[in-house]
Amino acid sequence: MKRRLALLTMAAVLVLSLSACGGGGDAGTSDGGGDAAATDDAGGDVANADKPLVWFNRQPSNSSTGELDMTALNFNDNTYYVGFDANQGAELQGTMVKDYIAANIDKIDRNGDGVIGYVLAIGDIGHNDSIARTRGVRKALGTGVEKDGAINSDPVGTNTDGSSSVVQDGKVEGLVVRELASQEMKNSAGATWDAATAGNAIGTWTSSFGDEIDVVISNNDGMGMSMFNAWSKDNEVPTFGYDANSDAVAAIAEGYGGTISQHADVQAYLTLRVLRNALDGVDIDTGIGTADDAGNVLTDDVYVYREEERSYYALNVAVTADNYQDFTDSTKVYEPVSNQLDEGAHATKKVWLNIYNAADNFLSATYQPLLQNYDDLLNLEVEYIGGDGQTESNITNRLGNPGEYDAFAINMVKTDNAASYTALLN
Ligand code: BGC
Repeated sequence: MKRRLALLTMAAVLVLSLSACGGGGDAGTSDGGGDAAATDDAGGDVANADKPLVWFNRQPSNSSTGELDMTALNFNDNTYYVGFDANQGAELQGTMVKDYIAANIDKIDRNGDGVIGYVLAIGDIGHNDSIARTRGVRKALGTGVEKDGAINSDPVGTNTDGSSSVVQDGKVEGLVVRELASQEMKNSAGATWDAATAGNAIGTWTSSFGDEIDVVISNNDGMGMSMFNAWSKDNEVPTFGYDANSDAVAAIAEGYGGTISQHADVQAYLTLRVLRNALDGVDIDTGIGTADDAGNVLTDDVYVYREEERSYYALNVAVTADNYQDFTDSTKVYEPVSNQLDEGAHATKKVWLNIYNAADNFLSATYQPLLQNYDDLLNLEVEYIGGDGQTESNITNRLGNPGEYDAFAINMVKTDNAASYTALLN
């Protein structure tokens, strides 16, 4: 409170001194587009189409081919995507599972039939991250089959006899590895990555071939924990997920096999940081690769920026029994970027932000709490909208007055649907 007061006073002094020397009070002027936004009050006179826009978590792309939607990614000069390196993370997940199997090869085959059987929960067959993770697991375990130049990521349904053409039997340490079953975890209303559906699926699978399941794998922790709690914990079957949600990390102490941190602490920061920079009219690298005035900076071992894709990608880290103690609170801000910005130089701005599905474990339990920590540090007043995970209109209906906001952060239901949002800003 005291600090805020001091900052406000500083801001007032700054404004006074600037107007005294005839200045416009415009702090940032280096980058085109941004400085106009920086001077106006909420929304101001900037056209909605020129306001900073960040896509996050779901990269505008074709959900069948994965091809990036460069029109959406180049919506205006201040448009970016923030996510994480899906392929690097997927490889890491596959390797983590394979290493676990190799290290436990003498006890992993529960029924001693010579086949290490695993089941796989798939999040969304049209989502890049989900596709990459399915491929990463199949690649590492040798169960992948090429289709059109890449590993087929389709669900197998059931494959207990090893006859599926979508996958093949692999080998780890001389033992056969088989994908016994996999399916997209989509509920009847259409929501994907659905944890409850995964909990039901493991029930169905185990009641018909439970003793053949030696490993449970999931495209994320939400579904992974649902299967762990429903079955694998009691049956001591190692279960692997993705996201490093706090509950999953805690479960490693109880037999959860491991997870991958997609560095949500870095992603949530970048999501709001690129907006802050655009609003301040400063170089986009400020507080990212270049330290800002408060000392916030990221090193290149935690993210990459691909200019041609207008995208920032956080890098992933495997979380297993060896290191999980370092990851117990997934909502903690990343220390190197945890410094408060000065309100005088970075006036409060209003941001409209949506989460595609308020029930998504990762986004609601990890990502949003992180955003809420960073919005204060970056002096952004964020309005959080939670979608139903099924229809874009459930969210776009609540962007009725874009003129009230200075910037937008969007998490689409489907990666193909960027135009439903940009149409509202145009
Ligand atoms: C996360 C999932 C999440 C999905 C939603 C992924 O990046 O890992 O847990 O459900 O995004 O879009």
